[in-house]
Amino acid sequence: MKKIIALVMALLVVALCGVATAEDAPKIGVAIYQFADNFMTLYRTELARYLTEDCGIPAENIVIMDGKNDQAEQTNQIDSFIADNVDVLIINLVQSSSAASVIQKADAAGIPVVFINREPVADDMALSENICYVGADARQSGTFQGEIVAETENKGDINGNGTVDYVMIMGDPENIDAQYRTEYSIKALTDAGLAVNKLFEQRGDWDQTKGQELAATALSQYGNDIDVIFCNNDAMALGAYQAIVDAGRVVGEDIYLLGVDCLDECKAMVEAGTMTGTVLNDHIGQSHTAADVALKAAAGEKMEKYYWVDYVKVTK
Ligand code: GAL
Repeated sequence: MKKIIALVMALLVVALCGVATAEDAPKIGVAIYQFADNFMTLYRTELARYLTEDCGIPAENIVIMDGKNDQAEQTNQIDSFIADNVDVLIINLVQSSSAASVIQKADAAGIPVVFINREPVADDMALSENICYVGADARQSGTFQGEIVAETENKGDINGNGTVDYVMIMGDPENIDAQYRTEYSIKALTDAGLAVNKLFEQRGDWDQTKGQELAATALSQYGNDIDVIFCNNDAMALGAYQAIVDAGRVVGEDIYLLGVDCLDECKAMVEAGTMTGTVLNDHIGQSHTAADVALKAAAGEKMEKYYWVDYVKVTK
């Protein structure tokens, strides 16, 4: 009886994750744009945990490389994955514009590619049948940020001068996430019929220190004129929060602060009222989907072109 149960369990693992034993498990090459990124650290940690613990892939079959935010470095890493004959690639590009060359190389070697987090443009996504993108629609995250502001008691106009005067701290502007969050957060305000006024917009490249520096500059330049500081992600919002405190301002009383990702620190800040809101960027849903799709592709199954995971609005 025990043997039958064990067999059924093994078959279940095969059915769910596509692998049974260490010998026939696929080799997976994962290229992350930069390990020193808070959100992508959560993402890759969960990806590795899920693949090993839940899908039973031996750890030695999974190699995860740090692109160090350098496309040349990442290209070398992808070349070695291809030379090593991995069964599938999971790629978080440093530069989305490199997608075409990666797709051509992987296609020539017959290796499927699951792009994550940094969405290649539609023209590049059309280059091969053997690729897909797993991610979240950044328009949704921007819209949620704007809606959170529009839903405050003074509709974002905390200084009462008749317009929502805002500061925008952007991620890397080459990323569609940065472009869409910047655009759609403001669109949600204008769609709600609110008058907006952009005081300051600069790139902080998803980085906490840069977020702090930029917010400090904006606060010293525009002072009490600022109603809202929008940050394209939570890491930059954590930096901006420090600048807000240093400037003697109080979130929720004389300024609003928004991020995206829902890092644990930021979730706690939203609960405490020291951050107005954030948006959950579901690294668990995204990493699990990427892993499931990668295992199917490694087993020769055809992939859909896109797999979308929803964002979730986070307020007190
Ligand atoms: C975004 C995320 C940022 C950063 C970026 C990297 O989706 O919100 O925090 O990790 O991806 O491409």
